[in-house]
Amino acid sequence: MELKGKYVLITGANRGIGLAFAEACAKEKSHLLLAIRKNDDQLKQKLSGLGASSVEIVEADLITRDGVESLVKKMSAKRIDVLFNNAGLLTGGLLEDQPLDDIYNMFQVNVNALVHLTRGLLPQMVAQKSGKIINHASVSAVMHFPCASTYAAAKAAVWAFSDCLQQELRGTGVSTLCLFTPGIKTRMFDKIDDLYSKNLEQKLDSISPEEYAVKIMDAVKDDRVYLEPNGLTGIGFKMAKNFTSLFNYAVSKRFHR
Ligand SMILES: NC(=O)c1ccc[n+]([C@@H]2O[C@H](COP(=O)([O-])OP(=O)(O)OC[C@H]3O[C@@H](n4cnc5c(N)ncnc54)[C@H](OP(=O)(O)O)[C@@H]3O)[C@@H](O)[C@H]2O)c1
Repeated sequence: MELKGKYVLITGANRGIGLAFAEACAKEKSHLLLAIRKNDDQLKQKLSGLGASSVEIVEADLITRDGVESLVKKMSAKRIDVLFNNAGLLTGGLLEDQPLDDIYNMFQVNVNALVHLTRGLLPQMVAQKSGKIINHASVSAVMHFPCASTYAAAKAAVWAFSDCLQQELRGTGVSTLCLFTPGIKTRMFDKIDDLYSKNLEQKLDSISPEEYAVKIMDAVKDDRVYLEPNGLTGIGFKMAKNFTSLFNYAVSKRFHR
């Protein structure tokens, strides 16, 4: 799908990967609908300056069911060609050390809100007979590291959701794209070390959000269903998928209590 003139709704578009994708869409002259927690006039001006056909900011906090439902209602009369379920939270560390509130909030934003928003906006996309639903998973959906139990479980749920939906949508003109995102240098990426390094030796590679936004854009244009990592992470990803026991054994050697 070409993005020029298309209506693109992005959650968590104020920073990180969501912002980089919004900027890339602005350069393609898309109409932008940005679901963010606080209105931001400077962001609106910046994206208009980059070439967006229009920019609308919709205030939405996805931490509650009511917050998501309110976003669904605000969007229900609008055309949406691309829904990017991007907003997310990170959890990590030994399971018994992870605060319960953090775990509940992470599942709410990363999984429940994503499913709720997609369910709410799908009828209008199916009626349009076209659309792309981008679901932000992670390499963690497949590469199961100790200290990532709750986050990986949420991202595996996003993968399964995206896969099932893709099958349900066959023939409707609407399709899904699941992002198996590797390390991207954002505020979330900077938190990984704090949460994991006490118990896990790791060497993390990353690319910039802008570089990754180009890859997402290409995947949308090519109507792909998955965006998988390449390079060294890509090798680890394939190993985790096809030789799971071997991958888990190798990773366990880097873990200590
Ligand atoms: N960076 C990586 O290495 C990496 C790797 C794999 C997957 N991912 C996934 O990529 C997505 C984007 O993450 P990022 O790396 O760009 O991280 P980020 O810079 O921390 O951005 C997270 C975004 O989610 C929004 N968000 C969080 N809680 C929210 C809530 N309750 N309601 C509405 N929005 C909320 C944030 O908004 P506020 O500014 O208002 O908090 C922010 O816009 C996430 O789904 C993440 O799991 C990232």
